[in-house]
This record gives sequence, structure tokens and C-alpha cells, in this order.
Amino acid sequence: MIPSPSSAVPTLRTDQSVRRGPALRFLADGCSVEAFEGESVAAALFAAGRRELRRSPRDGAPRGMFCLMGSCQECLVWVGSRKLPACQVPVTPGLEIETLDFREQRLG
Ligand code: FES
Repeated sequence: MIPSPSSAVPTLRTDQSVRRGPALRFLADGCSVEAFEGESVAAALFAAGRRELRRSPRDGAPRGMFCLMGSCQECLVWVGSRKLPACQVPVTPGLEIETLDFREQRLG
């Protein structure tokens, strides 16, 4: 399950020389996350303070965003019935994603 963002985590979004699309919200593991049009799911989760997306099946080590270009597959999440790299999925209003561990726990 994605840990809730901590109020102690500062936003990583810069305010300088950046034009953002409209703000929107999407659901990650049932939690509402703020994002901006044009961001990837991975970027929005990272900016919200969520660094861990899953645990390694081998040793349980936390795994998260690494390459941010779709190569490493460390950021896989469920988007509907498809497992996709979060860094390659653009946020859209009402989008719902689940982390692998969250879905596994939800479905038992
Ligand atoms: S961070 Fe490597 S595929 Fe998304």
C-alpha cells in the first residue's frame, strides 16, 4: 500500500519558470492525489511524497521510481486491468491506479 504523504515532505514541484496544466486529482490505492495535467503518475506520486511503489518479491526491499523513462519497470502499477510503468502513464481526472502490493492485498 502506498504510504500517505507526510505533511513534513515538502513538494518537489518548482514554481519557477514552469507553466502547468490545470490541477486535477486521481486515485492511488483509493487515496486522492493532487496532480497537474501533463504529469506522469510517477511524478505526481513522487511530488506527493510517495517514494515506494512496491516491495521486491525476492527480499522485500522497497522499490520505486528509478529511470523515469519506461525501461526499468520498477514503477509498475495497475491501471485498470493492465500493469503499466507509472512513469509512462499521464494523469487524467478520475484516473484510478493501484500499486501491485495493494491490489494483491485487496484481492487476497
Ligand atoms: S521508473 Fe523505470 S520504468 Fe518507470
